[in-house]
Amino acid sequence: VKHLLGIKYLNEKDIQLIFETADHFKEVINRSIKKVPSLRDITIANIFFENSTRTKLSFELAEKRLSADVINFSAGQSSVKKGETLIDTVNNILSMKVDMVVMRHPNPGAGIFLARHVGASIVNAGDGAHEHPTQALLDSYSIRERLGDVAGKNVVIVGDILHSRVALSNIFALRLQGANVKVCGPKTLLPKYIESLGVGVETDLRKALNWCDVANMLRIQNERLDISYFPTTREYTQQFGVNKRLLDSLDKEIVIMHPGPINRGVEITTDVADSKQSIILDQVENGVAIRMAVIYLLASKIK
Ligand code: CP
Repeated sequence: VKHLLGIKYLNEKDIQLIFETADHFKEVINRSIKKVPSLRDITIANIFFENSTRTKLSFELAEKRLSADVINFSAGQSSVKKGETLIDTVNNILSMKVDMVVMRHPNPGAGIFLARHVGASIVNAGDGAHEHPTQALLDSYSIRERLGDVAGKNVVIVGDILHSRVALSNIFALRLQGANVKVCGPKTLLPKYIESLGVGVETDLRKALNWCDVANMLRIQNERLDISYFPTTREYTQQFGVNKRLLDSLDKEIVIMHPGPINRGVEITTDVADSKQSIILDQVENGVAIRMAVIYLLASKIK
């Protein structure tokens, strides 16, 4: 395969290969070797049709650390604003001898559509409420780093599951690796098909946290939300927000994750986000090694 379009298209062996490759790159980075010459003959375009901080910067950094040539495209400053289509946009970029496209797009399936219509290798950096495969990979990698083998771990994903590409990709990735997965959130923010994905459902946050080893706290996706779905922010925080008092009252110490950006004081308080139980910044750090691994492995298919 020359694309990474979703975790749905991977198997457990693919994930382990990505992790072992990321281990290698993380070790190299930790030895203060910031750049390796692996992809000197590869050119990558990062095309973002939605805002991003972590994904955009860590892809760019990963590509530069592999010595690829990198161009960045933000839809808001481009001729998309003059009506140019996605395929025309990408084909014009590819005519400049670009080998790989990393794309974030608000429409679910945009990466799959692009892979069918253009010749380059496509990496999905988040497509609407569908998938965010590199986020799920770095999340599982961070669990593995903190707790050892992901298999057998109890992981709860808390929040707006309905609109979350992070939730769907995490469910696929965690289940492939043998973790036990539950989701927890207001019924209005849980998709009707959720149990068909092999995950448990818990609407009582305390019960969910007492069950889990890891809680992955999600942001409410206000930008994708039909307001009629939703409890008020205050109600949401009261029922599904994690604070230090709640964590300290649990039977055991759990690991707290969040893909970012955080709404401090809504789904997670500052004293939890910045506590030693939180691996939020480890997730961000691991994002670079994971994205180096993904790009390196895909580039080996197109070289
Ligand atoms: N986790 C994540 O995708 O963050 P960004 O939207 O900032 O890239």
